[in-house]
Amino acid sequence: MIPSYPFLLSGPVIKGFGRGSKQLGIPTANYPDEIVEKLPAELNSGIYFGWAQVDSGPVYCMVTSIGWNPYYKNTKKSVETHILHEFDSDFYGSNLKICIVEYIRPEMDFNSVDELITMIKDDIATAKERLKQPQFEKYRTHPFFSQEKNGCESNGKDGQHSSHTTKLPIACCLTIVIEDEAK
Ligand SMILES: Cc1cc2nc3c(=O)[nH]c(=O)nc-3n(C[C@H](O)[C@H](O)[C@H](O)COP(=O)(O)O)c2cc1C
Repeated sequence: MIPSYPFLLSGPVIKGFGRGSKQLGIPTANYPDEIVEKLPAELNSGIYFGWAQVDSGPVYCMVTSIGWNPYYKNTKKSVETHILHEFDSDFYGSNLKICIVEYIRPEMDFNSVDELITMIKDDIATAKERLKQPQFEKYRTHPFFSQEKNGCESNGKDGQHSSHTTKLPIACCLTIVIEDEAK
């Protein structure tokens, strides 16, 4: 499903097709191809939840969709994050960090846009509820969120985390943190 949780991504926000805001009323922040193309093959497409931060702002709940949006039949894979906060304006070009903590479901096709909206609202409710659980809530304060946007090496405290970091162009940074709490 996912190599290991939490799964951390950091990179600039680009414009998507703009359907999230206009058609769905659920705005999403998209990552550039440079990030999407470098995702590990084991990372299944589908809907996940976790925590998100724009630049060095507060950390909010988020739901993220990874894949091809079967309802819209996209030809390119995307990572689209809906942050559970009302922002005053768009934040294209800002840095977005996401900390994915759990999988919700696979991507699905729908008979109508209303069915898609209903399902996304259900995902949001699931995320809100499950992020209250201590095993997920604890990641809200993950050290990843206090690092500089390009300082993505996450070696963790006391050598408890091993990490793999790939530096990417245009200030993208893909970080996969593997935590072994048993140590
Ligand atoms: C939580 C969440 C769940 C989603 N689930 C699906 C899905 O099951 N099927 C699908 O085709 N698209 C799904 N999407 C993707 C939306 O269709 C997509 O975000 C929307 O079309 C906006 O895309 P755009 O920003 O490129 O315009 C989901 C998005 C989110 C945030």
